[in-house]
Amino acid sequence: MDIQRAAKKITRAKHLVISTGAGVSAESGVPTFRDALDGLWAKYDPQMLATPQAFRANPKLVWDWYWYRRELVEKTRPNPGHYAIAALEKLLPEVTLITQNVDHHHQQAGNKNIITLHGSLFAYKCANNCQGEPTSVEVSRLTWKPEDAPPTCPYCGKGKVRPDVVWFGEALPEANLRRAFELARTCDVMLLVGTSNVVYPAARLPIEALYQGAFVIEINSNPTDLTPRMSVFLQGKSGDILPQLVEAVREELGAE
Ligand code: OAD
Repeated sequence: MDIQRAAKKITRAKHLVISTGAGVSAESGVPTFRDALDGLWAKYDPQMLATPQAFRANPKLVWDWYWYRRELVEKTRPNPGHYAIAALEKLLPEVTLITQNVDHHHQQAGNKNIITLHGSLFAYKCANNCQGEPTSVEVSRLTWKPEDAPPTCPYCGKGKVRPDVVWFGEALPEANLRRAFELARTCDVMLLVGTSNVVYPAARLPIEALYQGAFVIEINSNPTDLTPRMSVFLQGKSGDILPQLVEAVREELGAE
């Protein structure tokens, strides 16, 4: 069976790289980027709000959207898929997680070796990076009033404070991106979970891994454009499949 085949490869991996997207958090109740929104935000396309242009044109709207997402995420918890990924880090000698997610559920589930590509919903910076890139700013509910949002940078007193996430059209954090590509080019097994593989450069990671001969396993509730190129495709919810995969890895490890 495919799960057993994948588990065998994972168990023998010299370096397992796991690359995750929004799908892994869907079962926690965090909407993915391509889900339709309900309520107040139904009329907005999340991708139109995630741009520097949108922030310049309407900083309050973008700030409110990100604060809404932060509060939504704060009400959610990691799901069995996140815990299974954390278990792999404990079970195997060399595991690195690369994530496009900004919700911290992997960290909460216990992963330590994480490369974040798109920033964090819980980190903020001066929009002008007045003290150098990034100019991190501590933000809590006490530091701003809803009517004055977004807050002003405490260092320069001019720049607006913005979430430290990567918006469309912006560069990814350079060191993290370099490390992610090095790993994609050197790993022997990659596990790709819950990503539509449409947003570059993250979408290039599995392609690099395939080029250099890695065994690439995809877990997704739906096939993606990359699915035909995968070594194994496990279709289903990551919260169902990943715990089964970890169980199969445990059996393999026990059998060795
Ligand atoms: P997407 O929202 O594009 O895709 C989510 C993927 O997860 C889809 O392929 C779904 O089929 C799959 N999926 C949904 N529920 C699932 C489940 N329970 N189990 C397994 N798979 C499931 O999310 P990303 O690929 O992460 O970028 O999107 C990448 C980037 O686009 C995001 O980081 C964000 C976004 O716009 C920026 O903000 C720069």
